Amino acid sequence: MSTSYPQYGSFPKNSEQAGADVKRLVKVPGQYFSLNEIEQALSEHRPVLFFITHGESSTGVVHPMDGLGDLCHKYNCLLLVDTVASLGGAPIYMDKQGIDILYSGSQKVLNAPPGTAPISFSDRARQKIASRKTKPVSFHLDIGWLSNYWGCDGKPRVYHHTGPVSGFFSLRESLAILAEKGLENYWKLHEETALYLHERLENIGLKLFVKEKHMRLPTVTTIAVPEGYDWRDITAYVMKNYSVEITGGLGPSVGMVLRVGLMGYNCTKANADLVVKALADALQHCKKSKV
Ligand SMILES: Cc1ncc(COP(=O)(O)O)c(C=O)c1O
Repeated sequence: MSTSYPQYGSFPKNSEQAGADVKRLVKVPGQYFSLNEIEQALSEHRPVLFFITHGESSTGVVHPMDGLGDLCHKYNCLLLVDTVASLGGAPIYMDKQGIDILYSGSQKVLNAPPGTAPISFSDRARQKIASRKTKPVSFHLDIGWLSNYWGCDGKPRVYHHTGPVSGFFSLRESLAILAEKGLENYWKLHEETALYLHERLENIGLKLFVKEKHMRLPTVTTIAVPEGYDWRDITAYVMKNYSVEITGGLGPSVGMVLRVGLMGYNCTKANADLVVKALADALQHCKKSKV
């Protein structure tokens, strides 16, 4: 079972293609699920796995994780969390929050090239994988094979595939840099830079899409498309005149938001200032309809 936001339905889509019976919980973009809503769905559908995105980058929401692990375990269900847009930029505690499987991407906050994806499993998830009765449908995502590749099963290594070795070295280095800076310091940097950006965006008359302050994802800020403007004019203007890439929404949030990513290496107040300057200029120069 999965929560479904506009875009990061890629895991549920993959699962469906692999033959899983996926039930989706749907919300209006910009909102999040209460534990109550999740519990109702768990008790109705009794899934083996519950998928949720921590940093929902298409809407700019950071989803609360407290209580979710216990809730899933009460229904004998594993909790799987996508942290592609949030790992390193927003607090998450895999063990304390009872998360069973957590994955991320190398190319966002971690600043490494795309192509590798850190993933971690709880003991509960490992037991589930080890005791499964049916074979995984895909060779590529067969965790048994992959755990052998990574030397996690205590058995001699057997050829599986050629890994993206240079990508692994880059990821390792990016994690070493993060460890040197300190994870808590990095969370703080993202939080402070986001607050700095948010305040200045509001000062030029823009409205943030996510109303509740504590639900705003520090790494990706969503701005409500200002009334009367075509969002495409604004993104094109800032790209042409400032070489700054601001994107529109994804899926149901298309036309509703402008998205600004300030994460990892790019997470600086100077960059926040540049974004605000570029947007203020775009509001002056882009066509505004009078109706
Ligand atoms: C939350 C989230 N999940 C998944 C993805 C997809 O990552 P990839 O493009 O590496 O498949 C993204 C990409 O922006 C994301 O923000």
